Amino acid sequence: MFSKETYIKRRQELKRKVGSGAVVLLGNSEAAMNYIGNDYTFRQDSSFIYYVGLNTPDLAYILDIDNDKEYLFGDEPTIDDIIWMGNLPSLKERAAEVGINATEPSAGLSKRVSDALKSNRKVHYLNPYRYRNQILLSELLGIKIQEVSSGVSPVLTKAVIEMRLIKSQEEIRELENAGSIGYAMHIVAMKMCRPCMSERDIAGAIEGLAISEGNGVSFPTILSMNGQTLHNHDHSGILATGRLMLCDAGSENLNHYASDFTRTTAVGGKYSTKQITIHNIVLQAVNESIKMARPGITYKSVHRNAYRIIFEGLRELGLTRGDSEAALEAGAPALFMPHGLGHALGLDVHDMENLGETLVGYDEKIQRDTQFGYRSLRFGKRLAEGHVLTVEPGIYFIPQLIDKWRAENICSNFINFDRLESYRDFGGIRLEDNIAITANGCRPVYEKRLPITVDEIIEAVEN
Ligand code: GLY
Repeated sequence: MFSKETYIKRRQELKRKVGSGAVVLLGNSEAAMNYIGNDYTFRQDSSFIYYVGLNTPDLAYILDIDNDKEYLFGDEPTIDDIIWMGNLPSLKERAAEVGINATEPSAGLSKRVSDALKSNRKVHYLNPYRYRNQILLSELLGIKIQEVSSGVSPVLTKAVIEMRLIKSQEEIRELENAGSIGYAMHIVAMKMCRPCMSERDIAGAIEGLAISEGNGVSFPTILSMNGQTLHNHDHSGILATGRLMLCDAGSENLNHYASDFTRTTAVGGKYSTKQITIHNIVLQAVNESIKMARPGITYKSVHRNAYRIIFEGLRELGLTRGDSEAALEAGAPALFMPHGLGHALGLDVHDMENLGETLVGYDEKIQRDTQFGYRSLRFGKRLAEGHVLTVEPGIYFIPQLIDKWRAENICSNFINFDRLESYRDFGGIRLEDNIAITANGCRPVYEKRLPITVDEIIEAVEN
């Protein structure tokens, strides 16, 4: 948790941005794994963490802008809570930690909201992504559950996105800390990337590390020899010489900030010439994208430039052909990279995706594309100092997609489908770093870059 001044300042800024009405922020509750009382590890709502800082279930907060008041709602721990879960500070003590003076029992939330509604004041709330909070909002507002999403406050959503998107120096330090844990996870994965090791052993080892050094993983680990499946959570493979292991993993640190790195390692560090060539095209794409990222430039144009590098690199190998500009217009590189170059990173691995991916990543000036490949870019707008993003180009050979494009004659003047036949069992390579946009460019969000060249990765595997 940061000092209480950080949260007070954030709430004052939120008040200024929203202007009037009452802001209701709902914390999360426990979520049952298979029955009540056996819960998933508690994860607080990220906007609640950002403004209120408290990491316990069943809290709510109201910022009554019109009356210049704020309240924290929750219940005092009962003797049963203390017997089973240990001693907990009182609600007043928890509120004081983050600079909130007024507290009320949870039951008071309903009266405060209905008072605001009765006096025709706007009640602002964010998009609820958990059913419990959808139900709670429907009860508080006296509307059907189906109507809750259409009442989400655009003003509050915009204000929260604007604030959370620009990371302060203290937040960047937290992200670096998450990055250090991510670094350790990936080094372990590289060292374990040996013939006959099971993917599950490696995924388990790095997730264990994430738990021992932080709050666990920031998303379910993607680790597989079948890296062409972009979000592959199947860890049933046994590593075999000649194959590549794609590992996309990151940690959530103790203050809930995320890291998200990807490295692709040849099993046992034994790379084929083909693998080295594809690796180097992806490496060029990640390095050039990082060089290009700076305030004022759109991430859409950085994504497009990565597509160009991939298209031209594959053209050298005879896998693609034709004019780059025309191929980019036609969307040909999306056959090899059907995902976007990156996304915002923060308290969530896809930061604030619950508020609306397009609202976070685009604006009035920079609209989301609809074309295959480009449309998967989660963040396309103009970069600004304080944005923290992933940079994650990749090249994948997805047999079903290749077959579909060939059968439907998609971009056939830019793709050499015959040559692609010998890449059907290649898998995929993705390389991913995390950057923070600075006044003049960008900087890495980690102390030490993970091994990324083929030579560096081989050294990591062997030593
Ligand atoms: N690193 C996983 C993702 O971005 O979805």
